[in-house]
Amino acid sequence: MMVSVEPDLTLRPKSLDDYVGQAKLKQKLRVYLEAAKNRGEALDHLLLFGPPGLGKTTLAHVVAYELGVNIRVTSGPAIEKPGDLAAILTNSLEEGDILFIDEIHRLSKAAEEHLYPALEDFKIDIVIGAGPAARTLRLDLPRFTLVGATTRPGLISGPLRSRFGIIEHLEFYTEAELAQGVERDARLLGLTIEPEAALEIAHRSRGTMRIAKRLFRRVRDFVEVAGEAVVRLERTRQALDALGMDALGLDTRDRLIMQTVIERFAGGPVGLETLATALSEDPETLEEVHEPFLIQLGLLKRTPRGRQATERAYAHFGYPLPEQSRLLE
Ligand SMILES: Nc1ncnc2c1ncn2[C@@H]1O[C@H](COP(=O)(O)OP(=O)(O)OP(=O)(O)O)[C@@H](O)[C@H]1O
Ligand SMILES: [Mg+2]
Repeated sequence: MMVSVEPDLTLRPKSLDDYVGQAKLKQKLRVYLEAAKNRGEALDHLLLFGPPGLGKTTLAHVVAYELGVNIRVTSGPAIEKPGDLAAILTNSLEEGDILFIDEIHRLSKAAEEHLYPALEDFKIDIVIGAGPAARTLRLDLPRFTLVGATTRPGLISGPLRSRFGIIEHLEFYTEAELAQGVERDARLLGLTIEPEAALEIAHRSRGTMRIAKRLFRRVRDFVEVAGEAVVRLERTRQALDALGMDALGLDTRDRLIMQTVIERFAGGPVGLETLATALSEDPETLEEVHEPFLIQLGLLKRTPRGRQATERAYAHFGYPLPEQSRLLE
């Protein structure tokens, strides 16, 4: 039932100081962490949301490290029955520990309702026996901290959301921050990287730390195979081109989305459902996973009548502007 994640555990930042960027969030967290530690209490329940790959899972581990507590990792879909939750809560948690539930929007309704008294009163009801002889036993739990992560905050029910004392979202990284992340990994791997090469990777990483680090690992392959000791700009460019990352950091999927809006729907506006169907994608994934970066880049707009490609999108993909431009800036 426990899930483990990420192949690069050794490169994963341990402390808040190692954790690049997210300055505003880190500043607040430092206050909350210190206050909780000074009071000798568990940290309030924390909900982290944001697009994939920005560092939610990593931050949950960092928080545990900073508090000096253990972290138990599970995920919404892994908790199938209320009994699964009871098992985790009663068996593996000590005072002050963190329970990390990834993809918390995928918790079943039953498990979610079971969680409420655990979050509020640190108590859980378990049913013993079956049929008419069944009875409910209320157990005390250690005071723990739930850290929930989700890419889909819109799918979290009001009652669950209201039980988190701290709700924070992660932001896309600046290119300087992504470059810093790449340089850190290079250092840990004993490689020298030119600052321009790190920035080139950052530039094509869609504001996303996971992408920057993944691209860097592939660039490293090219550098090593070429027998070079330093990661240089030219080799980096060559590797990134070979990987199909364009100058804005869009991958094939992003390009397909934009090309579909432009070619099949004349630039839009096209409704989310219609667009999703055309892409064989589910609307929520399109909306919460793929769109945020396209919107942030100014390629796509959400309008009351649907999704619309911008002039910048036409220019980037080399399409002539439609004659009567209904497009948005
Ligand atoms: N602030 C950061 N500084 C350095 N490395 C980071 C940072 N944030 C994330 N990373 C690295 O980026 C990768 C992705 O991070 P992580 O798995 O925490 O993202 P996530 O938000 O949980 O994504 P998902 O929603 O897909 O689960 C990891 O390899 C992690 O080590
Ligand atoms: Mg994660």
